[in-house]
Amino acid sequence: MACVAALVVLAAAAGLTLLLHPAPRFTFDGEKATAGTITVSSADISGELGRVKAHDWLGKERPVQCPGIGFAGPGEYALTLTAEDGLGKRTQFALTVVWEAVPEVPAEPEEEPEVPSGGAGGGSSQGGQSSGQVVYEGGIVEPASITPEIISNPSAITAIVNKYHALPEGYAPSDLVAITTNCGKNLQLREEAAASWEQMMEAAKADGITLKAVSAYRTRDYQNGLFTNYTKNNGKEFAALYSAYPRRSEHELGLALDISNTAGIPDNFETTAEGRWLMQNAHRYGWILRYPEDKIKITQYGYEPWHYRYLGKDLAETLYKSGQTYEEYLGVK
Ligand code: DAL
Ligand code: ZN
Repeated sequence: MACVAALVVLAAAAGLTLLLHPAPRFTFDGEKATAGTITVSSADISGELGRVKAHDWLGKERPVQCPGIGFAGPGEYALTLTAEDGLGKRTQFALTVVWEAVPEVPAEPEEEPEVPSGGAGGGSSQGGQSSGQVVYEGGIVEPASITPEIISNPSAITAIVNKYHALPEGYAPSDLVAITTNCGKNLQLREEAAASWEQMMEAAKADGITLKAVSAYRTRDYQNGLFTNYTKNNGKEFAALYSAYPRRSEHELGLALDISNTAGIPDNFETTAEGRWLMQNAHRYGWILRYPEDKIKITQYGYEPWHYRYLGKDLAETLYKSGQTYEEYLGVK
């Protein structure tokens, strides 16, 4: 009799477990999540899909089912992923796939933009010549129409690189190190900037903010490919506003970082908790918001709430307090 009762209790417990056990849980980049965004540069999302995992209530990994996607070209696609445990419980994950028009790693550029050689003497503090410049709406100057000054101190932490100040031919930083990106990318920065990024990321984490590094050091060839692709896909004017000419990008210094809350960059990054945290705190770690919304004519680039430049704590603090761009602070174009 006691035996039968025990069996009944066991059966009831098993039934309850079947009924009440939690459904599988999803993680995205190792953190619990119910939604996420991946950014790809082609219709092949298989490499990025591995970032979404599901585990059942016993901790066993479960397959993630992804529906077929009718990719029609670059754009944003909403997908519902599902995971099921062996006991009939299912969970869904809302995945946004952003297929970017501009490839992440540019293929061999067919044609390299002409980079005019350096201005006279390289000693002027005013940057390159101004004659013969092509100026677009909003006062944005076509970089190909500028003869930049070639900077003489490319390895200085405070080196200025912009539309009017270019890196010498062949320059590459000698102290690049790998950084934590929090989004599965392999990126590098110069040692001092990298150490500061790690500190800033930890400080943000303590405030409940996960910063992700989505673009850091770029070679001249990579930058050249980006600029060429922007020009082809979006036109010269757009490229002039959002992309630097090869040898004129701070990313080639190994001292610039595009920071986001996802593996891509959302349009409204400045309104996210991560974007706001950076605006309030990045200067404490030596970083400045390099292309502010109200200084487009001065920086010669559109608003980029994600692009931060490492200048060291003292200088970043000074610029943050004065509200000046780096051009205004140095008194150069
Ligand atoms: N988007 C910035 C200007 C760069 O290409 O360096
Ligand atoms: Zn950038």
